[in-house]
Amino acid sequence: MPKRVLGVNAVFHDPASAVVVGGRVVGAAEEERFTRRKHGKVPVAFSTWELPERSARWCLAYAGVTPEQLDAVAYSYDPGLAPARSEDVTADAWEGLRTLYVERAPLFLRTALPGLDPDVVRFVPHHVAHAASAYLASPFRSCAVLVLDGRGEAASHLAGHVCDGALEVLATQRLPHSLGLVYESLTVHLGFKRASDEYKVMALASYGRPSLLGELRDAMWTTGDGGFRAEPLDWKRFAPPVRPGDEWSAEHADLAASVQRRLEEILLELARWLHERTGERALALAGGVALNCVANSRIWREGPFDDVWVQPAAGDAGTALGGALFVARELGDSVSPMTAAALGRGWSDDELAGWLDRAGVVYERPDDVAEVAAETIARNGVVAWFEGRAEYGPRALGHRSLLADPRYPANLERLNKVKGREQFRPIAPMVLLERASQIFDGGPIPSPYMLFTHRVREDWAERIPAVVHVDGTARIQTVDPAEEPLTARMLRAYERRTGVPVVVNTSLNTAGRPMVDDPRDALECFGSARVDLLVMGPFAVRRPGSAAAARVVREQVLVG
Ligand SMILES: [Fe+2]
Repeated sequence: MPKRVLGVNAVFHDPASAVVVGGRVVGAAEEERFTRRKHGKVPVAFSTWELPERSARWCLAYAGVTPEQLDAVAYSYDPGLAPARSEDVTADAWEGLRTLYVERAPLFLRTALPGLDPDVVRFVPHHVAHAASAYLASPFRSCAVLVLDGRGEAASHLAGHVCDGALEVLATQRLPHSLGLVYESLTVHLGFKRASDEYKVMALASYGRPSLLGELRDAMWTTGDGGFRAEPLDWKRFAPPVRPGDEWSAEHADLAASVQRRLEEILLELARWLHERTGERALALAGGVALNCVANSRIWREGPFDDVWVQPAAGDAGTALGGALFVARELGDSVSPMTAAALGRGWSDDELAGWLDRAGVVYERPDDVAEVAAETIARNGVVAWFEGRAEYGPRALGHRSLLADPRYPANLERLNKVKGREQFRPIAPMVLLERASQIFDGGPIPSPYMLFTHRVREDWAERIPAVVHVDGTARIQTVDPAEEPLTARMLRAYERRTGVPVVVNTSLNTAGRPMVDDPRDALECFGSARVDLLVMGPFAVRRPGSAAAARVVREQVLVG
């Protein structure tokens, strides 16, 4: 009998749910996509009781499983591994309160999912859940696995060896040493949001020089046993804190560049140690640090492994999936790797038409929306592209995307304006898989999940300037026609018009909001942002007055 397992992540941030039936991932989604609250909740001990209720209900409904039918619920944190709880829950910044809430989670889950037997809830250690989200979801049966994040119960890292799907933990680094927390604290110092905006630090780093590397090497180092030390640093020594409204200076960029470079060096050393211990040719990565695509690329280029696979939901959201896969395997199911990140909600054509009718917008059903989108992009329009099931994880991968023309450098500023983002933030390209290696190198191809950066070949950099970052790289998504036929058709249609098989792809959302998930979100986004064309399933909505989205009228040949 195939087992039915729900996974939930609820403890720190990015609450999410996943459902695994018979060892196969049926659905996975982040709570923020439902509640429209970015990152789902505030990352404090008080919010630990909050559960990803809406995504959990959706997962169960989508899989056709009732709470009574669940064989297990995997909860991606084990209170038994957390520091012993004293009577005073206020001690250590309310750490005891967090543990207390986790201990009560089975009862909270029963309230959220009436009919659930609280005894089926299993606590999976946080880093084991992260690790499983990589090694069980990856195509590898045996591999090395490395997890790095801010923190779990009492550690911030796990290094392991996976043989035939079974994990042997080789090393863990206990708190307070945490590369994720170092990066988080720098994120705050630079005026960004903790556990949210770390990728902005990475972007800022490419504008600086690693001039402080010597001092950082004294503060962060590997210990030769698979672990590391990360001593607290007073960032003010290097650059003043950035307050709201302040500008970033070269000092800030240099500090970001130095920390980024030191992080990369340490990750490479940890990877080399792990390779020596396991002798494996493949590495699976997860944990929030594994969203650092610059570091991932260095591991791929300079590290000892032939193959590197990163869980697309590498942050805490992914532990919902990892926990569920881990428990499914423990219950005896053979687990299948994930084949796509499009694991969230989707709508039928009729449902989409219903949404468009209710909104009262003028829409059409062209022969092929791929052609209409390509035409609009080639005329330098911006297209909101809403197709199929929503992505699990922070990257838009051609299901909830904003698409634009990469040939015009001004489109970087234009899209950052549409999205209300800082101007130093790069925008990324999607590229036809069969053309990718002609245009990009220095990273893995295929790269379907945008988790690595590649160098843009010189002869192409001037042809697609909008997507070339200041350091000459781009975080690409390769599009395989066998996996993503519609998106590939759009790219081919665009290439036919322009000779360029690359389109700008950034997430479909506006400032501070989670990615668009349902048709209402898409319509609201279209209504509030300067987007020329909304493509939703087989339908197209043209912005009135937009030249880029206007219908092509065939030239008439007048005779006589
Ligand atoms: Fe984590």
